[in-house]
Amino acid sequence: MEKKIAIGCDHGGFEMKNELVDFLKELGFEVGDFGIVEKVSVDYPVIAQKVANAVASGDYPLGILVCGTGIGMSLAANKVKGIRAAACSEVYSAKFTRMHNNSNILCLGGRVIGPETAKIMVEAFVTTEFEGGRHERRVDMIDAIEKGETL
Ligand code: RB5
Repeated sequence: MEKKIAIGCDHGGFEMKNELVDFLKELGFEVGDFGIVEKVSVDYPVIAQKVANAVASGDYPLGILVCGTGIGMSLAANKVKGIRAAACSEVYSAKFTRMHNNSNILCLGGRVIGPETAKIMVEAFVTTEFEGGRHERRVDMIDAIEKGETL
């Protein structure tokens, strides 16, 4: 997978996002920073939509979103067609949401976990590939729901 990643945050995830930008660059990623670039109060759906569109368009294979809990970002990002955003707080979920769900955005809570835990989770997320097989069928079912089909 191309070593490119989109990242964004609100005020609840500002410090963590900046640490993750540096960390991802150390890992050799080209990082598209969709803000915020100074700590001001912003509405997380605005940033979630920017990063989700960047991933859904194919400009970036993966994305990271950080807010206070990771939940608001995931709810908003998942409204964009083609996005599978997972709010995670530990490394097992961060790894398996790539392997089994083919998630393309990892959402983190800057007020929930510390930066070192976040780095371990991000590294697992960006280095793990989708397993396919039986999981492909299930991800296809998620796509079908998105299209309004009844399973
Ligand atoms: C902002 O205070 C907070 O609501 C936001 O960062 C996020 O946690 C929402 O899910």
